[in-house]
Amino acid sequence: MKVSSTVTDILDVQTDLLCCFTTIESPDIPGLDDAAVQLAAQDVAGRLKYTATVPCPGKAPSRIMVVGLGSESKITADTIRDASGMVAKMAQKMRLKQFALACPPESVAEAQDAAAHMVEGSTLALYAFDKYKSKKADPQPDLVIVSAVDVSDQVQAAQITAESVVYTRSVANLPANDCPPSVLADLAKEMARSRDVTCTVLSVSELADQGFGGIMAVGKGSVNAPRLIVLEYRGGPKGQAPVALVGKAVTFDTGGISLKPRSMMDEMKFDKCGGCTVLGIMRAVADLHLPCNVVGLIPSVENMPGGGSYRPGDIIRLYNGKTAEILNTDAEGRLILADALAYAEKTFSPQGIIDLATLTGACIVALGCNVAGLISSDDSMASFITESGERTAERAWRLPLDDDYMDMIKSDVADIRNLGMPRNTGTAAGTVTAAAFLRHAIDKTPWSHLDIAGTAWMQAASKKRSYNPSGATGFGVRLILDYLKHLQ
Ligand code: BES
Ligand code: MN
Ligand code: ZN
Repeated sequence: MKVSSTVTDILDVQTDLLCCFTTIESPDIPGLDDAAVQLAAQDVAGRLKYTATVPCPGKAPSRIMVVGLGSESKITADTIRDASGMVAKMAQKMRLKQFALACPPESVAEAQDAAAHMVEGSTLALYAFDKYKSKKADPQPDLVIVSAVDVSDQVQAAQITAESVVYTRSVANLPANDCPPSVLADLAKEMARSRDVTCTVLSVSELADQGFGGIMAVGKGSVNAPRLIVLEYRGGPKGQAPVALVGKAVTFDTGGISLKPRSMMDEMKFDKCGGCTVLGIMRAVADLHLPCNVVGLIPSVENMPGGGSYRPGDIIRLYNGKTAEILNTDAEGRLILADALAYAEKTFSPQGIIDLATLTGACIVALGCNVAGLISSDDSMASFITESGERTAERAWRLPLDDDYMDMIKSDVADIRNLGMPRNTGTAAGTVTAAAFLRHAIDKTPWSHLDIAGTAWMQAASKKRSYNPSGATGFGVRLILDYLKHLQ
């Protein structure tokens, strides 16, 4: 999809479909005296996601669509994203080559902001995972943003952001048979090659030699050997400590010897979503030339049962030297993340570390499928992330992590264990005790953990948004990019 912007009167835009947004408070389209369009605007009356389309033969826009955004007190950035995505999909169904979105009234949002939301909503809504379909999705219409002021910079940035979300989805949606850790590493190299990003991949022998006991233990049961993908982008001042992003990439999570029930196990191909999000963020920071230093670490394994698998009762040694008792091989994410977090801190002395992981089913129990769990060792970092979450509608809600929770993962035979309480299920505060395990991997660096188990792909309880088609959502890319943009 091509995206462009133009500063003109709406009636001068040459397009197959011009969409004008209205609200309950301003249901009319100012400066437009066409009787048919005014009638359509009256029908819509600004009501949320109501539409009416009027043919305008002979005019520059050959159709005008009036789209309601609802009551101004309730309109947010996400209302504009969602409504724009809806229009984009209608334009696609109408098989149009191109459509135009006019910025909503200034009372709703500043044109620069609105333009970005419209581009994001449209681009994200038109994504479809059709790689394996003989019949491909309908061609995407091009988009023109119509505004009274120049919005080209915002349009370009929003397009880069949205394309990185789309990229994240397209990797995350790959089935496990086509995306073992080695392939994920190849994709990371390919992404980095054409950009100002360096990519190093630690092989299984390097992981073994350097003491990545968590990654090695989880990876043992699969014929597909693990990898640690390391991406570096240096867009900030030389010598400035980077932000480290760590993403869980379990290319398939069967649970291992503690095998998962069969129901919906196919969804565990999405257990690599945290890693895919980090890939997408690295792609975007480079394309946006953000003035900061960012490193991305993606531990990738396949968690399988087999003759070589690690077992309940095993005691392993993590990268930072601490020992962990395995009580459930399905609590594998924390093991590979602990290694990557400790490695990130030791290797890069980052100013802050954020990890993203589809870590616990308990997070879905606690927060559902529209809000990620946030656990942090640093109050100001936590509130910055929360604010970015509100702005991007990729929301995060903080959960506590104090010593009482740290006590819940003490082990009788090792330093810590990979399951909370009770000792057989670990169901009490499952999201927090998983984070408590991660906390052990970090010494002093401010750290935040995002549990994206509910939000990384569309599930039964997910709130429908036009810009989130089925499959992986790419959750976290826009959130973390917003966070990085607001660093000092
Ligand atoms: N990848 C899963 C978490 C998950 C489950 C994400 C369902 C999204 C949907 C993780 O590796 C896992 O299996 N966690 C266990 C932990 C338990 C054994 C303490 C879980 O949540 O059941
Ligand atoms: Mn698991
Ligand atoms: Zn998992």
